[in-house]
Amino acid sequence: MELRRKDLLGMADLTAQEIGLILDTAASLKEISQRPIKKVPTLRGRTVVTLFYEPSTRTRMSFEIAAKRLSADTVNLTVAASSAVKGETLADTAANLQAMQPDVLIIRHQASGAPHYLARRLRCGVVNAGDGLHEHPTQALLDLLTIREAKGRLDGLKVAIVGDILHSRVARSNILGLTTMGSRVVVAGPATMLPPGLTALGAEVTHSLEEAVRDADAIMMLRLQLERMGQNFLSTLREYSTHFGLAPRHLGLAREDVIVMHPGPLNRGVEISPEVADGPYSVILEQVTNGVAVRMAVLLLLIGER
Ligand code: NCD
Repeated sequence: MELRRKDLLGMADLTAQEIGLILDTAASLKEISQRPIKKVPTLRGRTVVTLFYEPSTRTRMSFEIAAKRLSADTVNLTVAASSAVKGETLADTAANLQAMQPDVLIIRHQASGAPHYLARRLRCGVVNAGDGLHEHPTQALLDLLTIREAKGRLDGLKVAIVGDILHSRVARSNILGLTTMGSRVVVAGPATMLPPGLTALGAEVTHSLEEAVRDADAIMMLRLQLERMGQNFLSTLREYSTHFGLAPRHLGLAREDVIVMHPGPLNRGVEISPEVADGPYSVILEQVTNGVAVRMAVLLLLIGER
């Protein structure tokens, strides 16, 4: 089976077969990162451009590492040092990049839909590395891979997603991906951070952290996205962490083999206690390792030899 797509824009577009293909491909590519010489020639001669309008550590680094392990050339445009600060529009920036013939453009942008807008205009592939409050498909794919590795399957699992759901493209992409793969998703957060429409996406909704994590196979904690909030979302960080911070005592409610996840960056002591983040149930750094493999798979399937 092939991924017959030019772009990867969101989990909403992907079938269970396509998700399975990406995860299987990622699983088979993981071994390359264990070799003494971590490089294969598969994407030699391809050019991967990253265009990040928002900060990023893991996503940008792992796309670049993924591309390099497959021997593609990578070019990163640092937006803060680009003509965007002189007022160039996104469409003009992208058209100019395209004139240099890249094979794929990886974009993160504060506006929901920005990658879709570019994908319609550009000949090269477009990968969404996070668009506003909308989607972050490669994060969901690496999360799915991490859960599947730990549990051996995705169907029939209970996955709790807890915290600032409203501002989280990670939550949205995970709800879509997990439900497509047959998992049951229960989201929890304060009322101000639960957007309407979660049930329509396929999630169950609760206001109780305890209820969400009870018998969960996986618990995904989300960062409180303070940079996207005005006032009025929460009274104090301390109150938030009392009600929605994951602490060791909560883990006893979950299944014995529960895994604890977080997309990063962590607000230690706010949504997750350091004991849990660094404890034996945490797979937070496995998620990061899997991020490289998933991004290798996505690049290979989008721009590799058919
Ligand atoms: C997330 C993002 O940017 O959406 N980070 C990531 O890609 N790992 C989540 C976040 O910023 O909290």
